[in-house]
Amino acid sequence: MLYNKRTNTCGELNTRNIGETVVLNGWVAKKRDLGGIIFIDVRDRYGITQIKVSPEKKNISALAASLGNEFVISAKGNVIQRESPNKNIPTGEIEIDVDELQVLNESLTTPFVVEEEVKANEDLRLQYRYLDLRRKKMMDGLLLRNRVYQLVHEYYAKLNFVEVETPILMKSTPEGARDYLVPSRVHKGKFYALPQSPQTYKQILMVSGLDRYVQICKCFRDEDLRADRQPEFTQIDVEMSFVGQEDVFKISEGLFAKIWKEILNFELPVRFPRITYDEAMTKYGIDKPDMRIKDLMVITDLTAAVKTCEFKVFNDVINSGGMIAGIKTGKSVNGAKIEITRKISDSYTEFAKKIGFGGLATLKMNDDGTLQSSILKFLNEESINGIKNAFDIKPGDFVFILSGERNKVLAGLGQMRLKIAEDFKLLDDSKHEFIWITDFPLFHYDEEENRFVGEHHVFTSPKDEFIHLLDSKDRKEIESIRANCYDLVYNGTELGSGSIRIHNSDTQKKVFNVIGLTDEEAIEKFGFILEAFRYGAPPHGGVAFGFDRLVAMLYGTKSIRDIIAFPKTVSAASLMDNCPSPVINQQLDELGIQLKKG
Ligand code: AMO
Repeated sequence: MLYNKRTNTCGELNTRNIGETVVLNGWVAKKRDLGGIIFIDVRDRYGITQIKVSPEKKNISALAASLGNEFVISAKGNVIQRESPNKNIPTGEIEIDVDELQVLNESLTTPFVVEEEVKANEDLRLQYRYLDLRRKKMMDGLLLRNRVYQLVHEYYAKLNFVEVETPILMKSTPEGARDYLVPSRVHKGKFYALPQSPQTYKQILMVSGLDRYVQICKCFRDEDLRADRQPEFTQIDVEMSFVGQEDVFKISEGLFAKIWKEILNFELPVRFPRITYDEAMTKYGIDKPDMRIKDLMVITDLTAAVKTCEFKVFNDVINSGGMIAGIKTGKSVNGAKIEITRKISDSYTEFAKKIGFGGLATLKMNDDGTLQSSILKFLNEESINGIKNAFDIKPGDFVFILSGERNKVLAGLGQMRLKIAEDFKLLDDSKHEFIWITDFPLFHYDEEENRFVGEHHVFTSPKDEFIHLLDSKDRKEIESIRANCYDLVYNGTELGSGSIRIHNSDTQKKVFNVIGLTDEEAIEKFGFILEAFRYGAPPHGGVAFGFDRLVAMLYGTKSIRDIIAFPKTVSAASLMDNCPSPVINQQLDELGIQLKKG
């Protein structure tokens, strides 16, 4: 097709170009017919430029009048000053007085209008993703993502990291989330799995002596989805040899400092704070604390303070080894104003019930210093003073107290803190709070499966002082083992996770034994890595950051779907190409697969 090829994009012309003859190629974003003069907004990736077809241009005015939204056109004309400028766009002071107009392609009437404040629901936008991506906001997300790729590549290249692609078809391993499986045609009855992460490969690359590996890679996990989880997602995957935790932290901090500076022009601290998992759980009731509210409503253990009370609920909890703990809100909480009215307090009681507690005890100090409490009548003076002292209660303060099994109480108060922070708008989006959480437990006991599972993954090394406990048969001892494992948390979201790995096959085997794999099973599932470790595996460690989450945070959205070109819905479907979809019988026959009925 012969047509006038663009001389400029739709985002670059301004008053300096007045008098030039230009050609624009793009999409009809909007058309207005003002008594014969037709104004058209032409859109491309770079912006929007207004073009004008006057009624005297007899050869093209009928064509201009016939244009529909989203037609692809080529327009040639002169750049002229615009009579009524549009201050909102960079090209708003000029327009093109068109002499030649061509339709390069027509468009059906679109199922929704392609406009910034789109009215269509997300499913329709996902079905017609190519139209949705024409919107500047969506395109900006892709461009931001592209910029972050470049920064990541640049950063690691300078530090001598090597990018290596690892396989997409790999061996299915039993740990972690559910695998996506791919049946083999050649080896009937056998399956590949899509990688949940390149974990084993990157470790094996360390055995190869690669020393510093990085990859922006796709990972696949068949797990329950939510706004920050996709079945296929992208990681910045990193592994290094001869390093300790601090080396991994330092290199990672440099990456985020660079990205935050370049994208947000924000200086992050050179070193991010670190706290242990145990401290995070005890103070904030969560392993991804939002440090924008670090000093607010820190959890306070009241078990000792109320030990002499004669309140049956508390006594039962104390006798069964549980915990009584609370958080303080109110006027004097580190400058934050958290005024709890009766109605609000009742709503938190409801919330506590919803998350599995019998109730929520409250205690308020009135302005005159007297106390008001749902449990005052059950507490002796010693206990009341104990609570007062533990919180340093001042007039106007309000205390919420939960009791029960320790971890449940901590997690419950953690959830309440976050709810209160959200309700009172204490989570300031202009703050950028990174924190490393260290020393995670190596295992946790899975009550459903009735066995230990790796808290992170099975290649995570125990801290030296706990290695001897790998042989223990005592549940409490196994649960007490702490690992060289860390998470990076940003404003309350887990952005990355990693560990210093086991590089010794005996320790690795012991870990497999704790999670219930016999030596034979371990060799069957993970023999390749155990074998590799026998050929001079160097000490090594690494980390992986959620790339989609990172871009979503920089972009300012909670949903990673917004910054993925072709995301899946929460039921893991792609509405645009309608997948997953049935396949023809011949394909199944070739794979030796027969579908079960029902
Ligand atoms: P992990 O499983 O913690 O660690 O994943 C690392 C980071 O990836 C992101 N992430 C996700 N993002 C979107 N959708 C998902 N379904 C999803 N799952 C995880 C999170 C998370 O912090 N191999 C190890 C890393 C290592 O030890 O080096 C791993 O994959 O931001």
